[in-house]
Amino acid sequence: MKRTHNNGQLNLSNVDQEVYLVGWVHRRRDHGGLIFIDLRDRSGLVQIVFRAEDKELHNEASKLRAEYVIQIQGKVVARAESAINKDLKTGEIEVVVSHLEILNTSKTPPFEIADSTTEPDEMIRLKYRYLDLRKENMRENLVFRHKIIKAMADYLDQEDFLEIETPFLTKSTPEGARDFLVPSRLNPGKFYALPQSPQLFKQLLMVSGMERYFQVVRCFRDEDLRADRQPEFTQLDIEMSFVAVDDIINLIESMIKHTLGMLAKDIDKYRGKHIPEISLPFPRLSWHDAMNRYGTDKPDTRFGLELVDISDLVKNSKLTIFSKAVSVGGVVKCINVKGGESFLSRTDLEKLEASAKLLGAKGLAWMVLSPEGVKSPIAKFFTEEELKSIFEKADAKKEDILLFAADKFDVACSVLGGVRLEVAKKLELIKKGTFNFLWVVDFPLFEYSETEKRWVSRHHPFTAPQGDQAHVEKQFADDPSKLRAQAYDFVLNGVEMGGGSIRIHRTDMQAQIFKILGFTEEEAKRRFGFLLEALEYGAPPHGGIALGLDRLVMMLAGMDSIREVIAFPKTQSALCPLTGAPDIVDAHQLKELFIKTSGGI
Ligand code: AMO
Ligand code: AMP
Repeated sequence: MKRTHNNGQLNLSNVDQEVYLVGWVHRRRDHGGLIFIDLRDRSGLVQIVFRAEDKELHNEASKLRAEYVIQIQGKVVARAESAINKDLKTGEIEVVVSHLEILNTSKTPPFEIADSTTEPDEMIRLKYRYLDLRKENMRENLVFRHKIIKAMADYLDQEDFLEIETPFLTKSTPEGARDFLVPSRLNPGKFYALPQSPQLFKQLLMVSGMERYFQVVRCFRDEDLRADRQPEFTQLDIEMSFVAVDDIINLIESMIKHTLGMLAKDIDKYRGKHIPEISLPFPRLSWHDAMNRYGTDKPDTRFGLELVDISDLVKNSKLTIFSKAVSVGGVVKCINVKGGESFLSRTDLEKLEASAKLLGAKGLAWMVLSPEGVKSPIAKFFTEEELKSIFEKADAKKEDILLFAADKFDVACSVLGGVRLEVAKKLELIKKGTFNFLWVVDFPLFEYSETEKRWVSRHHPFTAPQGDQAHVEKQFADDPSKLRAQAYDFVLNGVEMGGGSIRIHRTDMQAQIFKILGFTEEEAKRRFGFLLEALEYGAPPHGGIALGLDRLVMMLAGMDSIREVIAFPKTQSALCPLTGAPDIVDAHQLKELFIKTSGGI
């Protein structure tokens, strides 16, 4: 089909040229004798004009409606000064049409593609996703996503990584969410699991001697969805042999720098998207510091409001909720809302207390340092010296508000971590356009599961511990919570972008960890036998990481939901309004699979 130019690329240098263009009717305006059409293709818009002189052509043009598909021949002309459209990249020129062919008509779309100000209901957007993706911002998001993935893949290729595909029809993987299962027709009663990640296969590829692997790969997890969670999502998955923690961290930092550099070169395309300037290395926080100072293992460091530990100052106070918390091994912590008196009313404080309780707090005590004195239901329980020392440690001055949590370390931290975010949102403390990348390292190896009444791996059971086997044995006997993993999370503005670890590559260490976790040899063999066996054939030291690509693109594109950067996402309830999936299937399909259902059919 004859097409000489992309519409969005025409400019003054094309004046007087004869051009053949194609595209969709974006908008049309009738000005008496003149018909103006904004003609859209993937590259953008250009204005085309039908003049009155050619009656037949004009007549044909008057049939055009929004979203018709056309091909035209015409001549590029410069617009008069007064007609220049500064908002349009091609706004200095227009194309005077000499020939029009209507390639296809269109029904009136359920929402206007040209309208960038009103947002249709998301169900409608998803049902007609192919129309939604015609909108400029959505098209830009997909272009942006493509560029990011390409820059990363190019970087890894240049660093000698191989992209290798791994199976989707496989066995349960150890990421800890629920599996999506696929029944096997050829093996009645048996099921494949869709991979939650390629974790085990990428480790096998290291045993195979591939040394440097990556994959842009779909992962499947049946979990409750949120704005940054989809049942199928994409990872940039990486594994390397003969590496330690620093090697992986350095690689990712250089890859991010390279990627942002590539995007910045193209910055014109991404007006409106902030390509952050970064300096390496990114800060590293130990898990303990992250919890202690920000109350979360994915801290948002774009604002202060850090948690302050005042356990020592209040351990002997008359306020028993505080002194008792400390005496039973817990902590008392607070955050200082600077100038909070002007921003937080009594009702706001009550709301914050209610959300603290939802996060597991017993309460959220407060002190308002008003100019008339300290207002607080708990101030009377403290001596002057105690109050003074608390204010000093929390750097509290007149008009500040202190919010307190007394509880076990984890609970007090995570409660105040949640309150910290809520206060920051309410007081608008978060600077837009700031990109704080950081690493959280030194994660606990195990955590105690109250439901299972035993220690379980915090990540997966192949994560290498810090220290050798003797250390692990001794530390596990002393205090299992103090064992640390060679694991790391990559965080951007309070969102977990990725995570990984150095893996256990020796069977003796792996057997010790399984023993600690209470896996019988049989159970370990049943679940991960093929990996354990592979480790016996000269597995090299190895480790890796996976980045959540949807999340990374979402953050860089300045979107609030990963659905905005996925071509065909699912709703919060895991439905696809476009295809109607999931759906019932024919009885004979179930019969073939030896499946009986008790609901839905
Ligand atoms: P992990 O489970 O931490 O690690 O996943 C890596 C990253 O994937 C993203 N992510 C998600 N994104 C969208 N929707 C979801 N449901 C979802 N779940 C996870 C997050 C997360 O940081 N195999 C290990 C990696 C390794 O050890 O190498 C793994 O999958 O951004
Ligand atoms: P009460 O004596 O239960 O009315 O609590 C007095 C104040 O202390 C209220 O503001 C409660 O929200 C707060 N409070 C109660 N328990 C705790 C706790 N464990 N940590 C912090 N504040 C608490």
